[in-house]
Amino acid sequence: MTDADQARDRIREDAVEAALDKLDLDTKTRLLAGQDMWSLPALPEIGLHSLVMSDGPVGVRGVRWSADDPSVALPSPTALAAAWDPELARRAGRLLAQEARRKGVHVLLAPTVNLHRSPLGGRHFECYSEDPCLTGAVGSGYVAGVQDGGVGTTVKHFVGNDAETDRFTVDSVIAPRPLRELYLAPFEAIVTGARPWGVMTAYNRVNGTTMTEHRHLVNEVLRGEWGFDGANVSDWMAARSTTGDILGGMDVAMPGPATVYGPALAEAVRAGEVPEAAVDAAVRNVLRLAARAGALEGAPAAVASLPALVDGQALARELAVRGFVLVRNEDAALPLEVSAGRTVALIGAAARDARVLGGGSATVFPERVVSPLDGLTAALPDGALTYAVGADPSDEPVPADRGFRLRAVCRDASGAVLGEGSLPTGQVQWIGDDLPAGVSYETLASIEVRGTFVPREGGEHTFGTRGLGAFELAVGGRTLWSGVQPMGDEADPFEAFFGAPSERARIALAAGEPVEVSLTFRVPDMAGLPVRAIMFSLLHLGPRRDADALIDEAVAAARAADTAVVVVATTERVESEGFDRTDLALPGRQDDLVRAVAAANPRTVVVVNAGSPVEMPWREDVAAVLLGWFPGQEGGAALADVLLGAEEPGGRLPTTWPARFADAPVTEVVPVDGRLEYREGLFIGYRAYERNGIVPAFPFGHGLGYTDWAYESLEATADTVRVRVTNTGTRPGREVVQVYLAPLDDAVERPASWLAAFAGVQAGPGESVEAEIALPARAFEIWDEEARAWRRIGGTYEVRASRSHGDTRLTTTLDLA
Ligand code: BGC
Repeated sequence: MTDADQARDRIREDAVEAALDKLDLDTKTRLLAGQDMWSLPALPEIGLHSLVMSDGPVGVRGVRWSADDPSVALPSPTALAAAWDPELARRAGRLLAQEARRKGVHVLLAPTVNLHRSPLGGRHFECYSEDPCLTGAVGSGYVAGVQDGGVGTTVKHFVGNDAETDRFTVDSVIAPRPLRELYLAPFEAIVTGARPWGVMTAYNRVNGTTMTEHRHLVNEVLRGEWGFDGANVSDWMAARSTTGDILGGMDVAMPGPATVYGPALAEAVRAGEVPEAAVDAAVRNVLRLAARAGALEGAPAAVASLPALVDGQALARELAVRGFVLVRNEDAALPLEVSAGRTVALIGAAARDARVLGGGSATVFPERVVSPLDGLTAALPDGALTYAVGADPSDEPVPADRGFRLRAVCRDASGAVLGEGSLPTGQVQWIGDDLPAGVSYETLASIEVRGTFVPREGGEHTFGTRGLGAFELAVGGRTLWSGVQPMGDEADPFEAFFGAPSERARIALAAGEPVEVSLTFRVPDMAGLPVRAIMFSLLHLGPRRDADALIDEAVAAARAADTAVVVVATTERVESEGFDRTDLALPGRQDDLVRAVAAANPRTVVVVNAGSPVEMPWREDVAAVLLGWFPGQEGGAALADVLLGAEEPGGRLPTTWPARFADAPVTEVVPVDGRLEYREGLFIGYRAYERNGIVPAFPFGHGLGYTDWAYESLEATADTVRVRVTNTGTRPGREVVQVYLAPLDDAVERPASWLAAFAGVQAGPGESVEAEIALPARAFEIWDEEARAWRRIGGTYEVRASRSHGDTRLTTTLDLA
């Protein structure tokens, strides 16, 4: 920190104290509760603007949950982690800060730094890695970048939210060593290194205590040991106890206005249950956050001059390229030869309707989406590309956004129109006061989603609904269904968002002929709810064609082309927030499709469009496999860059890719009697594969790129490792040099090896380059449960310079006193 920064910090602290002094108890407690879904109240008397928060992490949605207010959509966090490049994450963060400022957002609800404990975790795509070192490094870069742009972050979800099942109540039972060495480690690295202005506490409990009330982990560890001075925001609707939360160090209860803070907190102070000093401490943290983000007049913002503007579209494309992981490339199948006359058969539903981001609160609405079909059509000469669906992984209706032109008509009880809202995706997601002009909850009785649908294909079309309440569905002027969808047993308040789609009616329609559609929703009484919101969707599924005929069609196309590119994918029902996966199989007939295509064309390239691992039983039968994650809005353009060789796929696996689900070290994410025991202790990810002697499909850190590397020399001291590598291929490239430590004479239980540090280097063909990599002291430490402190473990270590956890190129030994 420079002298000037320190001086600004002092002035800011004084301004915060002065503002705090002017507030009475009721105003202070009001400031600690959301005034609505996304913001805190403004306090003009102290020059405080309303502090606005928004998800996070691949874009900035803003306060409106609508495609009417588009955002740049970057690749999934798994893809960002796959670049193994904190500087790149920092550039992503700067773009997001720019987006946040454009949308009036002060605090981004990101990054998500829970670990890939099990590949079943529903938000696996939204977390970075199975390794705390990689997660901490990428998360630190991201936080630094967002905050470079004058916007705050909330590192989430603190802590132990590594799966979704019963997330509001589950007790994650984690022993002290794995808690410190794995799950807290990324938070610690980010808090101490990048100094985030915020943290978000999770829904779940850890070792019996609800995280929003966890005095030990919040007040003693996060603030006490690590020196966190930012604001601690609850996850949405996580706050459940007025005294428990404020004494547990939770500063802000979101969303509002009905929360456990506000008047309830003022009352608790007056009743002597809570010292006013606890409220003051929380208000101080909130004012400091506001001041840093430039929302407290008279206090200097943390950033005096903003970084240069970033081209979001170009960065989204670059990030996607950098995150693609080429895990298999037999006989240099990739990049494709593009000489005249060569043809490509592109196959797969997701090649046309790409899945560019994961579902749930991480959803943003990009202005444009470049599918693989769009990307390759633009990049290849006319006539070089054919397309076939091959297999459709989704047999459930999805939001009506293809071929539909819809709007939402709002009426009062007498049927008079109050106002209208546009509806680009068939989904009504109005939260808090975000209602169309002229509409209020007091007068609104029904919403009709109406408009026209022009079918892409003729045949039997399926219509459905998502959401809770009473509906009426009509197509072509005929009422096809009316009924009620009640709340399910799960009682997750987000069920209306994430709940199962329901099929309601089927009707035969002709291709290209417009038809009127209408879905009317009766607005229920929302009195007494913590947040008023209207969430329901019109869903649609095109005609189902015979699955074998679709595969036959794709096989014929593959046979006729020089190369077949098959895009396989998961669906929103497989990977999303709010639930976990039950297996890792690709949905539908996609495995059959790949096998059949590979049998017909030896040059078959498979592109995996999934945020987290899937089983690939055919992986040895195809020429190349490229893991594309959820690649963000420019994914298809980036894919064309990589397939055709304009760019090298830059990624390395941030998580071990199992050969089969049963090989995954943790296959259980369902709590038993409310408890989810982290029985595997220190052994998740590659640490567990190594211990269990299981060879995965592709190891942690693996990724091929388009050139080759020779590892020439390795020197190690206790704090620095030097590795010299030479690019022995024919193209320039980037190598991620990975340093693992393996204790040779271990007195304590530890994994057989672990990632200690890494660095990216670039070199042209024939060029050598030396990576100088700092070894953090923590790499040699364990958490001593008895001493409650970190303990350095001396002895002899093998230091490994590796291309992946499974591919060590050089070793040396190091004696540590
Ligand atoms: C998620 C958070 C998110 C919040 C606000 C919660 O359900 O767990 O990650 O920031 O909603 O959308």
